[in-house]
Amino acid sequence: MSNLYTQKMTRNRTTQLETPVESLAPFQAEAELAELAELLRWHDELYHGQDQPEISDAEYDALRNRNNAIEARFPELVRKDSPSRRVGAAPAAGFRKIRHSVAMLSLGNAFTRQDMRDFVESLRNFMRELSDPAIPIELVGEPKIDGLSLSIRYEQGRLVSAATRGNGSEGEDVTANVATIAEIPKTLAGRGWPETLEVRGEVYMSDEDFLSLNARQAEAHETLFANPRNAAAGSLRQLDAAITAQRPLRFFAYAWGEISEPLAETQWKARQRLQELGFRLNEPARLVKVAGEDFDTIFSLYDDIQTQRASLGFSIDGVVVKVNRLDWQARLGFVSRSPRWAIAWKFPPEQAQTSIKTISVQVGRTGKITPVANLSPVNVGGVLVSRASLHNQDEIQRKDIRAGDTVIIQRAGDVIPQVVSVVLDQRPPGTEPYRFPTTCPDCLEPLVRKPGEADTFCVNGLNCPAQAVERLIHFASRDAFDIEGLGVKNIESFYAKGLIRSPVDIFTLELRNGSPAAPGARAAEEATPPLREWEGWGEVSERKLYDAIQRVRTIPLDRFIYALGIPQVGQSTARLLARHYLQLGHWRECMEQAFDTETEAHAQLLAINGIGQNMAEDILNFFHEPRNLEILDQLTLPQNGLAPLLTIIDFAPPVAASPIAGKTVVFTGSLETLSRNEAKARAESLGANVAGSVSKKTDYVVVGADAGSKEKKARELGLTILNEKEWLAYISEKGM
Ligand code: IVH
Repeated sequence: MSNLYTQKMTRNRTTQLETPVESLAPFQAEAELAELAELLRWHDELYHGQDQPEISDAEYDALRNRNNAIEARFPELVRKDSPSRRVGAAPAAGFRKIRHSVAMLSLGNAFTRQDMRDFVESLRNFMRELSDPAIPIELVGEPKIDGLSLSIRYEQGRLVSAATRGNGSEGEDVTANVATIAEIPKTLAGRGWPETLEVRGEVYMSDEDFLSLNARQAEAHETLFANPRNAAAGSLRQLDAAITAQRPLRFFAYAWGEISEPLAETQWKARQRLQELGFRLNEPARLVKVAGEDFDTIFSLYDDIQTQRASLGFSIDGVVVKVNRLDWQARLGFVSRSPRWAIAWKFPPEQAQTSIKTISVQVGRTGKITPVANLSPVNVGGVLVSRASLHNQDEIQRKDIRAGDTVIIQRAGDVIPQVVSVVLDQRPPGTEPYRFPTTCPDCLEPLVRKPGEADTFCVNGLNCPAQAVERLIHFASRDAFDIEGLGVKNIESFYAKGLIRSPVDIFTLELRNGSPAAPGARAAEEATPPLREWEGWGEVSERKLYDAIQRVRTIPLDRFIYALGIPQVGQSTARLLARHYLQLGHWRECMEQAFDTETEAHAQLLAINGIGQNMAEDILNFFHEPRNLEILDQLTLPQNGLAPLLTIIDFAPPVAASPIAGKTVVFTGSLETLSRNEAKARAESLGANVAGSVSKKTDYVVVGADAGSKEKKARELGLTILNEKEWLAYISEKGM
């Protein structure tokens, strides 16, 4: 490396960073982009290639942001070797990660008019002053676009970064790609924009553009996209932004993330503000009022949008209904991963007719056997469908579904397509009723169906390769450990070669460097070669995988619990458990005790709101299985004098600084301004546990009118008793 080059690399660039991007002339921008490309390549090499970074992560990010900002302003100057495009610069599968400062969440679903009435009722239940149905509530209804969500960050009115939703907390850095989308302003229009503004919305492709893109793809003998959504996603997530630039992507803005000052007081006005700032809005949208039993306004908006669906020119899959007042949105807040103040009212599922070629069964992560119809591929509402779930044995029998049958199938959103019914008069001669297998197709052990239950299981657990592989796939998946490069294909091949047989093997992979995992799986002399020597692998991809694994060795407790793949324990249950038990060790101890149904630990588990008998059994069964405990030990405890493979971060109550964090509060009697739901949600958002009954462990008892026996008990126990006013003053005095 030449001296000049090294000098440049280590030079302090802070003086240059002071030139605002907007005052750069094109020739300056070009020169700086060239320099940044060189600099970043150098730092990437130090970091990834030699593990010897010269600058801090923050300094590195500043360089990249600077590069992104210049590229956003001068998309025509984006270099072929731009750091934002370079595969080598990205840690693993291609894109750098961006952590969302405000999580990107999803929406709850409504399917019927009744669901919509229930949604409004839930608003009334939550907000005391809306409890009288006569009081009107303003709602904004707008099309739910079927694209992919994007968060675009503007600082001082300039686009500085853009990220996909990813897992909701962390997305992919697609800044360079987004810089090529003409519809997305690189600098905000108008005046008075917030200094920091993350605009959120949907990247999509119009129907027309989608068809002509596919025509071009066909001409070039490239694969066709199944639908506009896939085309949009495939076009945005290109490592080479020059390809994105050739794709006709569009963008609708409908929400925001981090924002330094509010855009407006209402959703409706905020929409208008977004338009003034240079964004396109999804239409047709309407501001409506509902009151009493009169829901006609929102029903007719839904009907209107549905009628116009086919002629809008872009794909939508429903109507998003949002509470108009932003102060109400703030109070309503979120439950689990979706807002209480908005809902996605989906259109009915789309149907199509096709025939069943064969019926097969799949073994899931929990051993559940799911029969699947393999179909003659058919287009259902823009998506090519070739498989549909048949649910279980009874379902097949009830509908008498047979191989060879012509069937009606339907799909709704991301849900797995289903067989609705058989077209009996088209049944070919000679078909036979389906015979459900009695042994596991994978490990050949007999299948078990408990009396009174619909599902059939392979109970061979981790000894069944199909289950072991599914568990590993779940373990490494996006909402769990999120290990880039360890997807379905690699897990299957690593499993087959004995390289990874349990989660533990993932974290010893680099150490073993090619030796099979399971002791005795293969004789030492048969050790597989190091990964980099495998077909399709090289030093770079091997390094990337090891780095990706390295990066996830520290993981929050809730994600860890979810990753374990306990039957019925999804993300929200995992969060409930983490929230309740706070530490892995504590949780485990309690679960091991709780196996005795007489214990306090057992009662406590069942007392967690959201955990029922059935789910508790699954959780306890997990802890009763010695192999699971062994894996937990190997992952989280020191082994042979070496540090544990993983660090599990204790659950942190949402607001650590809150004085009521970790305290137990009981609300009793009828409160005046707060509904019980809102009181509970607010206390919980400040980190408190809300209990249903008073005990020695209660910290505060908040009493409303006609409190009765709980208040009496609280007095007897000498607990702190507050009325509603005092309570509100107490929590707001603490800056809340
Ligand atoms: S508002 C807190 N409005 O639907 C979430 N989302 O199922 C606020 N989407 O991830 C989202 N059209 O990607 C909103 N008009 C619209 C939308 C919309 C499509 C997507 C969005 C979100 C998903 C939720």
